[in-house]
Amino acid sequence: MTTASRYSLLQIGLHWLVAVLFALNYVVSDGMGEALRSKLAGGTPDGLVATLHPPVGIAVLVLSLLRLLVRWRLGAPASPEGGHRLLDLAAHWGHRALYAGLILIPATGILAWGVGIAAAGEAHEIVVNLTLALVIGHAAAALFHQFVLKDGVIDRMRPMSR
Ligand code: HEM
Ligand code: HEM
Repeated sequence: MTTASRYSLLQIGLHWLVAVLFALNYVVSDGMGEALRSKLAGGTPDGLVATLHPPVGIAVLVLSLLRLLVRWRLGAPASPEGGHRLLDLAAHWGHRALYAGLILIPATGILAWGVGIAAAGEAHEIVVNLTLALVIGHAAAALFHQFVLKDGVIDRMRPMSR
């Protein structure tokens, strides 16, 4: 926890870069199941999705590990003034769960695609869906803070706000 009113520029940059890459890989995923089955059967799947999806996902893993390191070194800004204890707790555990998803998604993907464990592919899809639900809740919570509680929480993740 720091006394700053927003995250550092590095943390803000990493947050939005990971958000964009996460969304990109969610969209560029159709056909990965088929590509995995072909790979497990000894084929060499090609095509745009099989070429892009694994490296973009690995980039998400590397950037998320970097984020955790920066977070550990720099901390986070103090909770907004007049914050509610329950909301703070929900944000605290919600952010931890998001980080867990950002690590577990690529890890299960690598176990399926790189190591050839078919069951890891099923786990991958489950963790992706759970994390997506968290992301939707996360974005909704950010909008609720910004427009209902009006505590300027989104400014903490904006590079050029007041
Ligand atoms: C942010 C990271 C990632 C996201 C959001 C993501 C998302 C998805 C989604 C939505 C699917 C379901 C596709 C479908 O069936 O229509 C999928 C499948 C798959 N992804 Fe990822 N993925 C990520 C990272 C990775 C990585 C790093 C790898 C491998 C190195 C990987 C390998 C796979 C494989 C093999 C499947 C097929 C699983 C199966 O059908 O059993 N993914 N991914
Ligand atoms: C429209 C989409 C999004 C909005 C508006 C948004 C907004 C925010 C805001 C305002 C914070 C700071 C919260 C605070 O100060 O307590 C934050 C933190 C965070 N966001 Fe997002 N976010 C979005 C998408 C995402 C996505 C897609 C992910 C990951 C897949 C993500 C992961 C995180 C994590 C892990 C934190 C905690 C940062 C830390 O304390 O280290 N966000 N987000």
